[in-house]
Amino acid sequence: MPLNIVVGAQWGDEGKGRITDYLAAGADVVARFGGGDNAGHTVRVGDETFKLHLIPSGIVHEGVVCIIGNGVVINPKVLLREMDALAARGVDVSPARLKISDRAHLITPSHIALDKAYESARGDEAIGTTLRGIGPAYTDKASRGGLRAGQMVEPESLADAVQAHVAWHNETLTKVMGAEAVEAGSVAADFAGYARRLAPHLVDASAYIDDCLRAGKPVLAEGAQGTLLDLDHGTYPFVTSSNVTAASALVGLGLGPKVVGDVFGVAKAFTSRVGSGPFPTELSGEMALRLRGTGENPWDEFGTTTGRPRRVGWLDLVMLRYAVRVNGLTQLVLTKLDILSGLPEIQVCTGYEVAGAAMENFPASLSILSRCTPVYETLPGWDDDITGARRFEDLPANAQQYISFVSDKTGIPIPLASVGPARSQIVK
Ligand code: IMP
Repeated sequence: MPLNIVVGAQWGDEGKGRITDYLAAGADVVARFGGGDNAGHTVRVGDETFKLHLIPSGIVHEGVVCIIGNGVVINPKVLLREMDALAARGVDVSPARLKISDRAHLITPSHIALDKAYESARGDEAIGTTLRGIGPAYTDKASRGGLRAGQMVEPESLADAVQAHVAWHNETLTKVMGAEAVEAGSVAADFAGYARRLAPHLVDASAYIDDCLRAGKPVLAEGAQGTLLDLDHGTYPFVTSSNVTAASALVGLGLGPKVVGDVFGVAKAFTSRVGSGPFPTELSGEMALRLRGTGENPWDEFGTTTGRPRRVGWLDLVMLRYAVRVNGLTQLVLTKLDILSGLPEIQVCTGYEVAGAAMENFPASLSILSRCTPVYETLPGWDDDITGARRFEDLPANAQQYISFVSDKTGIPIPLASVGPARSQIVK
């Protein structure tokens, strides 16, 4: 059985959680391969809404084993809080169902303190991080000063390592950043406690998934963030600190490329972004308010992790074609198509122009990107309520045309589109 991969094709928040939830119905294992609790994946089951930051969205499917892969950075306090909240709602999060790679890295309070200190020092140039310690944790991983989840098998020795690690960060916090020190002793004691609870969940995730694939069990790799937040391929430096594109599913789970089946790219029917950085199709005024929603509903455009209002704009096909290429997408899934209902016309960006010249590819340079003017095609809108549609034929002709247009211009099929927040509101 192959490994299918789900990634975000835009700037995150595309609705990967609910699409993973949909695809998880056909999987035995769902594995997160990168990011940390900067992610916020919302899954609605019946009247219940589950907001997950670290635990794979497959957890709400009984019988699906969920894995947090080696590419993830784990804040153990957040993970335990999330596990307790799920357990309180009757979801099984025992070690048989939730497994953690012993090679994943841990986020500590001093990573979070550093994230805040660096953001505040950047002033007007701030990245707009989620302040969850993600960047400093991946920095420590790359500079070989990180703490690995596998160290939790020996809580006392982990506590010693945490104590030294926080003391090391305190040097930078107090002497370089002029920030408060983090209390190393109490953090070390907390981590010994987290380790005692989480150690039974540790596995060699690569070996576990390899065994599943060899036994013919379908495995779904759940991405976090989105292509344009990728450390290499995103709008650097306004990106997250890890790779998030499809290839990182293999590194983040410990697998080789031959296992890959389909790569699903999830994109909203429009575009959104949280944090700073250029956004060629960004809208303001009435239309932005219309696409963003008021914040009353959990699916309105406000960050799941931070609550910040998201910036919104028209669909950008230059970006989507780029996402198709750098991820090797085989399928595209459009979410929130219903939000476009009622608009008389819909704009879609089909190209960029810089100083009057056409720009074929998504540029690496932010200075060029910020000077790109979108070239729009205007498509007719539809008035009908499409939230009850379940088949392509149920959609009004103009909504069908919108999907076909995006599929033609990106060159890949669109087998699924969501038309509302509920699990069943998917058009095939
Ligand atoms: P960090 O990952 O917290 O370091 O944040 C870096 C950038 O990525 C910021 O612009 C965040 O808003 C953005 N970001 C990180 N995770 C997500 C996500 O899950 N959805 C949307 N944006 C995200």
